[in-house]
Amino acid sequence: MKINQAALLALPALSSAFPGMGGVASKAETEKFIRRQYEAENLEKRQTLTTLTGTIAALASTVTGLLGSVASSVDPSNLRPERDFTYQAPASTDSRGPCPGLNLLANYNYLPRNGHVTFGQVINATSRGFNMGADLATVLLVFAILTDGDIATESFYLGSLNGVGGLNRHSTVEADVSPNREDYYLGCGDNHHVSSRLFAQNVGYAYLSSSKQFDLGTMGNQYAASASFSKKYNPYLYYFPFPQIVSLGAFAFYPNFFSNGTYGAGGVANYESISSIIGAKFIKSTGQFQYVPEQWPAYWYRRATPYGAVQALTDALVSIYPKNIIVPLASQAGTPNLSARDLLCDIYQGINSITPLGLAGALGATAEGVTWALSKLTPVIGAGTTLGCPLSTLSPNENTFFTNASSTGGPGKNPASSTAHTGNNVYNKVYFPVAPVVPTC
Ligand code: HEM
Ligand SMILES: *[C@@H]1O[C@H](CO)[C@@H](O)[C@H](O)[C@H]1NC(C)=O
Ligand SMILES: *[C@@H]1O[C@H](CO)[C@@H](O)[C@H](O)[C@H]1NC(C)=O
Ligand SMILES: *[C@@H]1O[C@H](CO)[C@@H](O)[C@H](O)[C@H]1NC(C)=O
Ligand SMILES: *[C@@H]1O[C@H](CO)[C@@H](O)[C@H](O)[C@H]1NC(C)=O
Repeated sequence: MKINQAALLALPALSSAFPGMGGVASKAETEKFIRRQYEAENLEKRQTLTTLTGTIAALASTVTGLLGSVASSVDPSNLRPERDFTYQAPASTDSRGPCPGLNLLANYNYLPRNGHVTFGQVINATSRGFNMGADLATVLLVFAILTDGDIATESFYLGSLNGVGGLNRHSTVEADVSPNREDYYLGCGDNHHVSSRLFAQNVGYAYLSSSKQFDLGTMGNQYAASASFSKKYNPYLYYFPFPQIVSLGAFAFYPNFFSNGTYGAGGVANYESISSIIGAKFIKSTGQFQYVPEQWPAYWYRRATPYGAVQALTDALVSIYPKNIIVPLASQAGTPNLSARDLLCDIYQGINSITPLGLAGALGATAEGVTWALSKLTPVIGAGTTLGCPLSTLSPNENTFFTNASSTGGPGKNPASSTAHTGNNVYNKVYFPVAPVVPTC
């Protein structure tokens, strides 16, 4: 690994990256847009969760009230795990981090159990275990390897290597406002363990929904509540385009990848599947969720069809993001004109400007990084593919909103917080029984 502490600290500012990213609006336009969203938000009457999750007894009956739904149509060939892939809890030396999907795959040896994984291994394992489309896996992987890993070996750690790099690294792929992880700053560097209070909130939204499931509506409500919380309490909320897309996508991943069966075609995003896969174990006596190793529930069937990049972005931008805009990702956000294809193509076209700014390893490797990233992205989203993204040069836009990357809170300078929590996941503990409104390190 080329990653070292000095290299990370010496990262150049990510300012003015993503020139024209999705048509990022001017500052004035942006502020107007945000004001409009806030006004809309205040008018909206919100359901309150306090009565549901306020007491231990209430939460226990809420959990009970979610049990029992089964998929209406499953193909036996999609039963997971397959023979020869057995569950084994990770050892304390195995690397695990913020991604429940990849953590789980390593717990079954679909990925190396030690959590040091390569590009090819992840493409294969995410397809086989969850039916993730190769385009979506590729986009995620390119950024993970560029910013958190090592290009020469096309590898990265699911958590960190001695507290540095890996998917735990903040504001590169990992982002604030995650479905069930706390913000990096408020969590004192713990952006990777399942938060008990967040999952209790998520269970509450599932219970309030008509489906009683962790469907897109439920996850949209979870996102809206967390976005409000972060806006209020996290002075270092930094919403940079790429991690923002990942974080939004992650909300849509809950129903689309963790459902028993195919979400939208008889599959159910039921409590049994979600809680087991993300490793949230309800402890009835305390009303808290203990974080345990990620595991498939018995008799679980993966989705039957691939879920790819355009579907993920569309779900994120249509069902999740409009519920509480943080900063406009694209000037079309919240309008019917939003195009997932345009956003993906903008990432592709902007790779030139992103690459040198995000590199985790050798700083001199810009050209190598761009060449490598394009070699991975072109076959899945470039000209000649279904998406057919043209590779033309975007003109830099000095007026972009994302100007403060190198100030505290940006990817170039993480907010001050304890570094004690940047290491690999430690399981069988309760994290964040109450909401961290200030960091308590
Ligand atoms: C293909 C390579 C992948 C990479 C590089 C990756 C990376 C990440 C990272 C960095 C995060 C943290 C994001 C945040 O802070 O919100 C994350 C979260 C997440 N990932 Fe992955 N991931 C990958 C594949 C998958 C797969 C296959 C699934 C599902 C089967 C998945 C499901 C999730 C979910 C649900 C979260 C949000 C966790 C939470 O906060 O509750 N990911 N992933
Ligand atoms: C998934 O659905 C199948 C088919 O209805 C059912 O037999 C199985 O018990 C369900 N599994 C889970 C974990 O919900
Ligand atoms: C991925 O799967 C293909 C087809 O089964 C196999 O040929 C290839 O070696 C696998 N790659 C890795 C890195 O495991
Ligand atoms: C959507 O695009 C059409 C055609 O370019 C344009 O006339 C319209 O104003 C756009 N709508 C919004 C909400 O941006
Ligand atoms: C950039 O940082 C400065 C100084 O910390 C702050 O006053 C300003 O509001 C920030 N701008 C944005 C767009 O976040």
